[in-house]
Amino acid sequence: MKKKLNVALIGYGFMGRTHSNAFRKVGNFFDLDYEPVMKAVCARDEAKVKAFADKWGWESTECDWRKIIERDDIDLIDIGSPNNTHAEIAIAAAKAGKMVMCEKPLSMDGKEGEKMVAAVEKAGVPNMVWYNYRRVPAVTLAKQLIDEGRLGKIFHYRAKFLQDWTISKDLPQGGAGLWRLDSKVAGSGVTGDLLAHCIDTALWLNGSIKDVSAMTETFIKERKHTLTGKTEKVGIDDACAFLAHFDNGSLATFESTRYARGHKALYTFEINGENASIFWDLHDLHRLQYFDHRDSGATRGWRNIHITDSEHPYMKNWWVPGLQIGYEHTFVHQVADFIQSLGSKKRARPDFRDALETQYVCDAVLKSAKTNKWEKVKK
Ligand SMILES: NC(=O)c1ccc[n+]([C@@H]2O[C@H](COP(=O)([O-])OP(=O)(O)OC[C@H]3O[C@@H](n4cnc5c(N)ncnc54)[C@H](O)[C@@H]3O)[C@@H](O)[C@H]2O)c1
Repeated sequence: MKKKLNVALIGYGFMGRTHSNAFRKVGNFFDLDYEPVMKAVCARDEAKVKAFADKWGWESTECDWRKIIERDDIDLIDIGSPNNTHAEIAIAAAKAGKMVMCEKPLSMDGKEGEKMVAAVEKAGVPNMVWYNYRRVPAVTLAKQLIDEGRLGKIFHYRAKFLQDWTISKDLPQGGAGLWRLDSKVAGSGVTGDLLAHCIDTALWLNGSIKDVSAMTETFIKERKHTLTGKTEKVGIDDACAFLAHFDNGSLATFESTRYARGHKALYTFEINGENASIFWDLHDLHRLQYFDHRDSGATRGWRNIHITDSEHPYMKNWWVPGLQIGYEHTFVHQVADFIQSLGSKKRARPDFRDALETQYVCDAVLKSAKTNKWEKVKK
């Protein structure tokens, strides 16, 4: 008999769906000591949350997250609600002795993140943040190749995350889905939303960042607010580009925007080392491009590795070589790794402390865009 892990999800939006799918499927594909039980889902609209629970197989519903935390039958609180709700829910959950999985970015800023880290560490509860791109098999393979030393000394890290969905000036800010444009709810714009993913991956693959020099722009200065009906100032960054020095001496460029017409979720990174280079593209996420200068000259060139072999990270749990997986599987992998870490001394990563480091980089980026100076990243 497997041990039960009773889960409560907060939020039934985009991430509510990816997390529900992950908790439902993980036991079918991974051999785990715990069976996740989808005990409760919480969001404020009673009819909608009930319909969501029926569709995805959650046993019960609540409309106030505080009720969820009071329940004795819940082991793990999974936070899939907007950024300004993360801290209050996570701190209350930790105080109640619950495990916490929290969506990214961890918090509105580093200061708030520090309180969250203190709460989970004081309570000693397992915790993790959903920076899911670490668990794209191609990205995990990139980490393995770097850790094996195949790239040698790393000189350059280059990341971009480009979208095009906010170009219309008629798009309102605030409310369902559009809370991302409201700085009071989102904290920041593309920096916390998109670059936070790039930064998390970069810190994981290439170590800590020392300092940054950034520029941001808000192309559309005022938008109607869905909740107030009034035209209000836009407080988020629509675009952000920054330079960085890593502690290992390598140089980096990062860029993100929601104004790159034609690009929907173009997250790419390229890493150049003395022996080899790696390139990855979210639009083609099951491939890793790899160039190794040590190959013999006649056949040397970029290899386009199709990440479907059973030797590739996570892939032996899925189908047969040649058949690929996609975006939703990264969330399944994250749940599998979280459950596998339970009862062991291994941290399920990225945990709150890891995500705080990303938050510190975001803070330095936003500060530098204001001061027009290089800013050190808090350690
Ligand atoms: N890991 C990723 O790749 C990824 C992708 C998208 C979003 N996110 C993060 O996930 C979080 C949610 O984003 P989303 O795209 O799912 O948003 P969404 O707007 O689709 O869904 C948000 C959900 O939260 C609920 N909610 C809002 N306030 C609440 C409250 N006080 N109590 C309970 N429920 C509340 C809403 O009803 C809705 O169901 C954000 O922090 C976002 O940054 C992460």
